[in-house]
Amino acid sequence: MKKIERSERIFIAGANGMVGSSIKRSFIKSGYGIDEDKGSILTPSRKELNLLNFKEVENWFIKNKPTIVILAAAKVGGIQANDTLPADFILENLKIQTNVIENAWKTDVKRFLFLGSSCIYPKFAKQPIKEEYLLEGTLETTNQWYAISKIAGLKLCEALRNQHGFDAISIMPTNLYGPGDNYHPENSHVMAALISRFSKASIECKPFVECWGSGTPLREFLHVDDLGDAVVFCLENWQPSDENSPKDLYGNSLNHLNVGTGKDISIKQLAKKIAYYSEFKGEIIWNDSKPDGTPKKQLDISKISKLGWLPKIKLDDGIQQTITLYKKSIYEK
Ligand SMILES: NC(=O)c1ccc[n+]([C@@H]2O[C@H](COP(=O)([O-])OP(=O)(O)OC[C@H]3O[C@@H](n4cnc5c(N)ncnc54)[C@H](OP(=O)(O)O)[C@@H]3O)[C@@H](O)[C@H]2O)c1
Repeated sequence: MKKIERSERIFIAGANGMVGSSIKRSFIKSGYGIDEDKGSILTPSRKELNLLNFKEVENWFIKNKPTIVILAAAKVGGIQANDTLPADFILENLKIQTNVIENAWKTDVKRFLFLGSSCIYPKFAKQPIKEEYLLEGTLETTNQWYAISKIAGLKLCEALRNQHGFDAISIMPTNLYGPGDNYHPENSHVMAALISRFSKASIECKPFVECWGSGTPLREFLHVDDLGDAVVFCLENWQPSDENSPKDLYGNSLNHLNVGTGKDISIKQLAKKIAYYSEFKGEIIWNDSKPDGTPKKQLDISKISKLGWLPKIKLDDGIQQTITLYKKSIYEK
C-alpha cells in the first residue's frame, strides 16, 4: 500500500529551482495534484513566502495546511561562493531548514522529505560511499559550511522522528544535471560548465577547448528527472521503521538514503561525450596545473535499489537532451 494518497496537499519548498521543478513534474506525472478538489501541489515563490522568516513560514503553514512537505529550497553555489560567503551559506541554510522542518512538525504534516547532498560525506570516505559512513571523517574544507548545515538538517529530521514520531525522511543525491541547471561561468558544477563551454565552442567554431585538471577524477552524475522520480518513490514506498527497510551496519534503521546511478565516469570521458554530442570538432586541451580534487566520488545505491528504485535515464541520452535544451536557450536569448 502507498504511504501517501492522491488527495494530499503537497508543498514543494524551492519549487522553482532545478530540483524542486523536477519534483513537481514527477508528482504531476504520477497523478498527484491534478484534481483541485481532491489534492493540490503548493509551490509559493520566494516573493510569496520567504523561508528565512520564521513568522512568515509559521503563518503560511497554519493557513495552507500542507499534508506532505518536500524541502528542496536551499542557498546553493560552487566552491568560490562557498569560500567567499561561508557565514551566508551556514546561516541561511540552517534558518531555512529549521523554519520549514519545525513548522511542518508542529502542524502535524503527515510525511516530510529533506534533500541533502553527497557532500555531507567525509572527504576520504571509502568508495562507493555507504549511508553509514556519515560523520566517520573530516569534510571537504571548501564546502564544509554547506555540508554542516545539511548534516544538521538530516539530524533534525532524525531527532524529531526519534523523540516525537515525526515522519521525516532524508535523501542524499549525487551530482545532478539536466533541465534548470545553473550555467553561470564561475558558479556552475562540472557537467553544466562542460556543456556550456563545448556548446558555445561548437557554435563559434573554436579550434580548442581548455578543461581544468588532468581529467582522471571519477564522478557520478544523475539526471534531475531521475531524482524527481526517486523523491516520489521514497514518499510512496519507504518507511524507515518497516521491517524490510534498509539498515546500517549495526542493524539500526536508516533515516537517510543515497540516490545516484552507482556508476562513475572519468571527467576526460565525460568531456569526450559532451564534445561529441555538442558537435564540437576542435581539440580538447587539459590544463593539469589546475587542481583535480578527490580522485573518486561514487555513492553506494544498494539500499534504495533493494527497495525497488533504479535510475531510468542513460547518461548518453541525458547529456544529449541537456545539450539540445542548452543550445535552444542560447539561440532564444
Ligand atoms: N543541483 C545539484 O547538483 C544537487 C545535488 C545534490 C543535492 N542537491 C540539493 O537539492 C536542493 C535544491 O538544489 P537546486 O540545485 O535545485 O538549487 P536551485 O536551483 O538554486 O534551487 C533552490 C531553490 O530554493 C529557493 N530558495 C532559496 N532561498 C530561499 C528563501 N529564502 N525563500 C524561499 N525560497 C528560497 C530558490 O528560490 P529563488 O529561485 O527565488 O532563488 C530556488 O527555487 C538543495 O538542497 C541541494 O542541496 C542539488
